[in-house]
Amino acid sequence: MILETIATGGCRSYLVGCPDTCAAALIDPELTQVDRYLGLVARNGLRIRFLIDTHTHADHFSATKELARQLDVPVVMHRHSPAPFVDMRLEDDELVAVGKLRMQVMHTPGHTRDSICVKVGDSLFTGDTLLTGATGRTDLPSGDPDALYDSLFNGILRLDPAYKVYPAHDHQGNGPSTLARELAANPRLQHRERAAFVENMRNLNLTMPTHLTEALRTNMSGGKTVEQLLAEATAKVPFMSLAELKNRVEGGDSELVVLDVRERDAYEQGHIPGARLLPRGQLELRVNKELPDPTQHVLTYCALGLISTLAAATLREMGFQRAVALDGGMSAWRDAGYPIRTGSDP
Ligand SMILES: [Fe+2]
Repeated sequence: MILETIATGGCRSYLVGCPDTCAAALIDPELTQVDRYLGLVARNGLRIRFLIDTHTHADHFSATKELARQLDVPVVMHRHSPAPFVDMRLEDDELVAVGKLRMQVMHTPGHTRDSICVKVGDSLFTGDTLLTGATGRTDLPSGDPDALYDSLFNGILRLDPAYKVYPAHDHQGNGPSTLARELAANPRLQHRERAAFVENMRNLNLTMPTHLTEALRTNMSGGKTVEQLLAEATAKVPFMSLAELKNRVEGGDSELVVLDVRERDAYEQGHIPGARLLPRGQLELRVNKELPDPTQHVLTYCALGLISTLAAATLREMGFQRAVALDGGMSAWRDAGYPIRTGSDP
């Protein structure tokens, strides 16, 4: 079995490949690492056949939907997954054939209702059901400490203790473990009685994950993250550097229309000399009047360079093929000590 572990902060993804057939499955991919996974696949001479999420993640953005679109392969999850883009919904004990490898799913609810562990050879991909030195939490949506007790003590912990454990998180950098080691040393597993285990889980008082609502929104619906929208816009838009714009402003470039897409009060407090105000929220409705010539060279800027990228992408979509965004924003312009004009006139 070919195995690559990909770390994204405390999250772990796994690329599991069959050496005989070069077929592979990717477990718990994360959205920012899409290019890395495809690079690893190419380096190992593999082809991804399945994208597996061990559960509905609340703390990171799953890449399964995006990779399924790029690779035209199925997304695999437990049948309780709420995500509408899942192609293969599995039940307890069902197998996925990855070349000559057999990946067997165990339904292990508790961290979430749709949690699974995946057995391949002597390896067990435990998702957030069992972590090294911890377990998944049970206080997020669809979590249930009673169910986690059963999934652990009447489920995976009854397997051969020699199974290697590959969890979806490794916040402490413990590296891979075994069931035997976890049984002996994992503090949460020392509560062997159901009541004690459940009480311990209920009293953990963990802080909420940073992107909880956005992760649940996008992972459960297949919708896009804010970062995804920005990355897509960035891929469609050329940028102009701060220094280049300063040269053009000082040199009196009459060809370039500079649009400040912030709100009026920000514009009046200080804008780039010669810039016209056209707030992002009014862009589409006012563009015909403000920019009658679609061949015009247009530059957008905002406070930080994010909203202006979206604005320039929108302008390009509308046919302004020379729309560019400032690489940076008003705050970087100010920090650079470049000229600023106040008031309502350009
Ligand atoms: Fe999780």
